[in-house]
Amino acid sequence: MSNYLQVEGLSKRFGQVKALDNAELECSSGEIHALLGANGSGKSTLIKSLAGIVVPDQGDIYLRGEKVSIGSPQESLAAGIATVHQDFSLVPQLTVKENLFLGAEPLRKLGFIDFGEIKKKADRLFNSFQVEIPLGAKIADLSVSQRQLVEIVKAFSRDPDLLLLDEPTASLPSERVKILFDTIRELANREMAVVFVSHRYGEVQDLCEKATILRNGYSVGEVQVAETSKDKVVSMMLGEEATKKNYGDSEKQSSKAKSEAKSSLSFRAENVTAAAGNVEKVSFSISPGEVLGVGGLQGQGQETLLRALYGLEPTIEGTCTLGKETLHIRSPREAIRNGIVYISGDRDEGLLHSRTIRENISIANNANRPLWELIDVDQERQLAKKVIEKLDAVYESLEDPAWQLSGGNRQKLLIGRWLIKDPKLILMNDPTKGVDVQTKEKIYDLLYSLANDGVLILLFSSETKELISLADNLLVMYEGKVVEKLEGENITEEMVLSASLNTGNNKND
Ligand SMILES: Nc1ncnc2c1ncn2[C@@H]1O[C@H](COP(=O)(O)OP(=O)(O)OP(=O)(O)O)[C@@H](O)[C@H]1O
Ligand SMILES: [Mg+2]
Repeated sequence: MSNYLQVEGLSKRFGQVKALDNAELECSSGEIHALLGANGSGKSTLIKSLAGIVVPDQGDIYLRGEKVSIGSPQESLAAGIATVHQDFSLVPQLTVKENLFLGAEPLRKLGFIDFGEIKKKADRLFNSFQVEIPLGAKIADLSVSQRQLVEIVKAFSRDPDLLLLDEPTASLPSERVKILFDTIRELANREMAVVFVSHRYGEVQDLCEKATILRNGYSVGEVQVAETSKDKVVSMMLGEEATKKNYGDSEKQSSKAKSEAKSSLSFRAENVTAAAGNVEKVSFSISPGEVLGVGGLQGQGQETLLRALYGLEPTIEGTCTLGKETLHIRSPREAIRNGIVYISGDRDEGLLHSRTIRENISIANNANRPLWELIDVDQERQLAKKVIEKLDAVYESLEDPAWQLSGGNRQKLLIGRWLIKDPKLILMNDPTKGVDVQTKEKIYDLLYSLANDGVLILLFSSETKELISLADNLLVMYEGKVVEKLEGENITEEMVLSASLNTGNNKND
């Protein structure tokens, strides 16, 4: 059999939900194969079945033509499979080094762990990504994108025959994505088989020869990426009917033309210095109807700025005004009271995973609820339904814990719950991370209609392309400062990059 990996008739149920329903997947050695599908279509469940985390109810897995049973992560590793999980598998309390070789310590003859070897391997891999992550650092102290890189380096360091990548780029800035892709191509050239999950179709076109499309846990088909259009793939993902109803017009929607905004409140930040100087003397204003972007290289203070405005980081100096009112925001509670909400793309930051879907949505409403007021569960339920319908989240029961939702559907909760609050200023921190194409369109539409209604929007996105297409004007940040403000319709990726580099070209960053 020429296929390195063959998955046949794989099925898995969780309660009433058919996460996988006769799924098929084939991938040869040296091939980079995309696994596509809408949020909740079963991609992660399929990946987890190969990684030994989920045990399927039915179906067969073949490696090199031989039927295998993968009952645990150890068995998966032993079979030559390494996995980058969508929700990271790192142990937060352990160091980078301890995590990297957890479960696969290279042993010397006498059975001691060879720390020299561990360090060499990791150093080489981190070097190729041009990052400095101290091996002694605790995972809990790293940023999301650093954690993502550790997860990737960990998988690569196992020299697998089959590499499974479940949205490896979701938290990675564009500069690193390119390096990641070069590394993946190099590994594929050395006959590694790669399965790649992503909601960014550009990445799939860039990297993958073939793609398998899942819909409701079922493999709808396999396509040659170069010979297929995005629209075709989307219609396979959603089914023809849904496609006609909900998708299309995507390019047109990104037109920035706006009608007169209904509200006339503006937001001004003056000389804001926060988070021990990680944000320094930042000034800007957002006028009604404007979507203001913050961009630049990764980790230059963009996210810290949003967090500081929401009261999640201590502000040292500066003033913020909303309309005529001067704000003193020291906590999210105060922010919410002033009509400022924060939507984070980092699901760990915003969701209570063990609480129910209903409770997670009601947080928005309960933030300022006096403690003596009783919670009206029925009302909460209706609210939750409304939010979920707005973004078509897939769920079984509102009383299920949030962790049971697929990654993208959890993201929809995070976004949807604030939209019922009539916010005045929305701070969006990478809001479309991990959501499928159709939902992205919906979020874009929502964003425009909010801006049209006069809601002020400050947006950060790790995808520069997305940032440019959504934002009217763009602040470019470098080392905590705004180094340039790009204005108008014709902002390009090159302009953002050159604004970022002009300031930093003498520094080793
Ligand atoms: N442990 C679990 N318990 C209950 N339901 C689950 C569990 N894991 C997954 N599901 C459900 O199975 C379905 C498929 O989820 P899966 O995570 O595989 O989707 P996905 O294609 O990876 O989506 P996304 O693009 O959002 O990551 C979803 O409806 C999800 O809620
Ligand atoms: Mg997933």
